[in-house]
Amino acid sequence: MSFKKTAETLREGAHTLERDYYINPQILIMEYNNIFLNNWICAGRSSELSKNGDYKTVNIDTESAIILRDSSGNLKAHTNVCRHRGTRICDKLSGKFSNSIQCGYHGWTYNLDGELIGAPHMDSVNNFNKKDYPLHSISIAEWEGFIFINFKDHPEKFENTFSPILKKFENWDVSNLISLETKTYNVAGNWKLVIQNYCECYHCPILHPELAAITPYLGGLNDMHSGPFLGGYMNFSKDKKSITESGELCCPPLNSIDKVDLNRVYYYSIAPNMLISLHPEYVMYHTVWPNGVDKCIVNCSWLFNEDVIKSGNYNTSDAVNFWHKTNKQDWHISELSQLGIQSKKYSPAPYSGQESLLAAFDQHYKDSLKG
Ligand code: FES
Ligand SMILES: [Fe+2]
Repeated sequence: MSFKKTAETLREGAHTLERDYYINPQILIMEYNNIFLNNWICAGRSSELSKNGDYKTVNIDTESAIILRDSSGNLKAHTNVCRHRGTRICDKLSGKFSNSIQCGYHGWTYNLDGELIGAPHMDSVNNFNKKDYPLHSISIAEWEGFIFINFKDHPEKFENTFSPILKKFENWDVSNLISLETKTYNVAGNWKLVIQNYCECYHCPILHPELAAITPYLGGLNDMHSGPFLGGYMNFSKDKKSITESGELCCPPLNSIDKVDLNRVYYYSIAPNMLISLHPEYVMYHTVWPNGVDKCIVNCSWLFNEDVIKSGNYNTSDAVNFWHKTNKQDWHISELSQLGIQSKKYSPAPYSGQESLLAAFDQHYKDSLKG
């Protein structure tokens, strides 16, 4: 991952987070409750659920969501908790329902809208009414082909929360891009280390010489420097056309991007769990999931124009291989960061001027942690 020169100045006294934020299980509980279960989180691409009945599950701490495409083709999300005795209904990460969802314990059955339609032997129970026991629903939104869910009971409308960036990526036509490949990485580091690493390119010359050769680490500008959305662009070197192993475009550029964007990559962190990287000819995105204080799971997907993928005529692995290698470099250094921060000798230190987005990330994170 990456980042760049910043026009904004670093907040006076900005320093790295205290050790507790990376090792304390009580803080992780607050993160689950006040951040991951209290905000819109990215849960993948709607094209993963292409047919009616297709579903995936998303698990966070004690909670689990079933995200599906209902019989009318709409995306829905339900809590993965049977209304009879609470059993988790789906234990697979993805699959397909016929027309209904059946709990594997006593067979209570729900339609894809979550209504209880079958409850064996409950007729004899006084005043039992199936209408009173639907699956609890979870708020869901689709934006640029991404699925977002929010476990909060009455969340702010997605469009309001995302208003600063709702139209920002339109030129890349992201909603029509298809995922070529998704890689899942188990990282032995706190989830915030992955995001902090993404938000600076101070490390690029040392850790990613190939990336630094394509996008010199001082060549760029941030245009979102506070709050939940952080990022900006970096310029390609004169002799480079994209971020690929060859440094060339691996397929034709996306149709509607501005000319100036042919020479740039844009990177944004979208709180709390999404990173999006827009290149002239493809888009990469990550989702980051805490898995304990010192572990996280990172999914990385590469999105291309459908025709490019179907034709098979393009060397899309030129992009995938470059970033897979860079990802691994970033995860490794994040794991080493975790190990060092766990030491009693770790103490916060000042951020450099190249790390202003990290100070902004930490600030927003601490504000969100309060709930
Ligand atoms: S717990 Fe689901 S049917 Fe009994
Ligand atoms: Fe990096």
